[in-house]
Amino acid sequence: MRLGRPVYSCSAGVRLPLLQPDALVTERVRAGLERAGVFAVYVNDAISEGIAPVEPISAELRDRAMRALDDTFTAVATQGAVTRIPGEQIERLGNVVKAILRELRSRREAVSSLMDLNAFDSHTLGHSLNVCILGLMIGDQSIRRHGWRDGRGEVRHGDVDDRLEKLGLGLLLHDIGKILIPSEILQKPGRLSDDEMEIVREHPKAGLDLIENGAFSSLSKVAVIGHHERLDGRGYPYGRADDLHPHAQIAGMADVYDAVSSMRVYQARRPTHEAWELVMSLAGTAFPIELVHVFKDTIAPYPEGVAVQLSDGRRGIVARVSRDHVTRPVVRVTHDPSGAPLTPHDLDLYEAQDVVIADTLQDLVGPSDPSPRAGDRSPDETHEQTLSTVLGATA
Ligand SMILES: [Fe+2]
Repeated sequence: MRLGRPVYSCSAGVRLPLLQPDALVTERVRAGLERAGVFAVYVNDAISEGIAPVEPISAELRDRAMRALDDTFTAVATQGAVTRIPGEQIERLGNVVKAILRELRSRREAVSSLMDLNAFDSHTLGHSLNVCILGLMIGDQSIRRHGWRDGRGEVRHGDVDDRLEKLGLGLLLHDIGKILIPSEILQKPGRLSDDEMEIVREHPKAGLDLIENGAFSSLSKVAVIGHHERLDGRGYPYGRADDLHPHAQIAGMADVYDAVSSMRVYQARRPTHEAWELVMSLAGTAFPIELVHVFKDTIAPYPEGVAVQLSDGRRGIVARVSRDHVTRPVVRVTHDPSGAPLTPHDLDLYEAQDVVIADTLQDLVGPSDPSPRAGDRSPDETHEQTLSTVLGATA
């Protein structure tokens, strides 16, 4: 196998090329990547010909955003709790948000994969950027569909970009309060004690303190203070159930989705759609149903390039995902149910309505589905386990 795209290592927001495109992926390289925590890469082979997964934003913009984030986080970390984020830094981040919004809107294809498979980087910065991208996609779509409510509860449709830019700034900084949590707690493997959990649960308030000066809009602040609050009152720091601002709900949804999908890629090798299904299952409890509908129509559960098994047993890889029906992609069918190769051909699941994607596969050949699925455990068990991981270990 040869690499389809470069693999970078990231440090302090700067990407250094580790492997060039077209590099041979030998067993040794594969083992080395796994040791470094990279469990998925793009490869070029006869089957993947013409399949080019779409990144939500350009590599240049991702680098620029990561550098701006790193400078902000570093400045706050070195100056401690008394610091305030300088005005020019806020302006720089605001310009990054504007650029992200522009790029997201200029892409006609569905964005299905938020993780940057080409790079592995410090978790908080990458997570902050992913949450910003995802939250802006959901926010943009949500306002387009439902408008927004002003102080008197009336639905409005104007000032969309201004609101989204403020939302985006809050999303970029939603976890900045984590800087004040001791790293031995933040990076502790395994379960946190009650006292440690108490400290972790302070990070939205700490984040709000850090951005509490006049340069931030309340439309940004609500995303920071409210990203762990839930509709059913089971969130933190206040456990508020009502009056949750939509920006807090969008931030919370994007946060859960990215935390679970990152665990999937970097640690647990979970099936790609598990994070997507988790968000679906939280409709009406953690998140409002209409917002989950927006998520469902905006984010594709099966990214391009992922190996899948169809309900009739055939296997293939997702070739294209349309923005208009993200759950019914075109699949390049490559193997029959016994694992024997077929002449590759594209099957549009939007037209072939009697076939669905049954599962994702680690490999096109070999035993069917070696990985555990969300459906293998009881829904409650899955939610509790995943949510406690999200709320606890990754905060
Ligand atoms: Fe958080």
